[in-house]
Amino acid sequence: MRLASFLTAAILTGSAISAAPAMADDTGQTLYVDACASCHGVAGLGRGPMAELITVGVPGLRDLSEKNDGVFPMLKVIQIIDGRTGVRGHGSEMPVWGSEFKAEALDEAGVYGSEIYARGKILSLLYYLESIQM
Ligand code: HEC
Repeated sequence: MRLASFLTAAILTGSAISAAPAMADDTGQTLYVDACASCHGVAGLGRGPMAELITVGVPGLRDLSEKNDGVFPMLKVIQIIDGRTGVRGHGSEMPVWGSEFKAEALDEAGVYGSEIYARGKILSLLYYLESIQM
């Protein structure tokens, strides 16, 4: 098994367990800590415990606006988190959260409902990331 898929599996297993009872009250910050902090760091500075195991280097997430002329790049960040369309290249080390979040709710909500659930989680994460911009 490749290191990246092993890490992804380990992270997703952990997040699936801790996220399961919280389906109704997932705040962006809770989601961030569960799904993103292992790589991007609790403070969003890119030094999570998994970061040193990833070959490409993990960016911090608090300068997204700064790198985009002071404007939070909303669509780009949605696409990066979702991972199913848009700006991410092949071979990205980042898990594809759109599919993961959708899978969490598929049994309960069906194809259409689970898509809405996934987009809701991504939107919560988006607002949280916007709130921690420097
Ligand atoms: C397994 C490690 C890992 C996890 C977990 C992870 N990421 Fe990432 N992320 C990366 C890496 C590595 C990059 C650098 C580019 C790439 O490989 O896609 C990145 C890039 C990004 C970027 C682009 C940053 C920039 O400067 O352009 C954003 C935004 C982002 N991640 C958000 C998130 C969010 C939100 C989560 C949680 C839902 C998350 N990431 C979870 C590894 C991870």
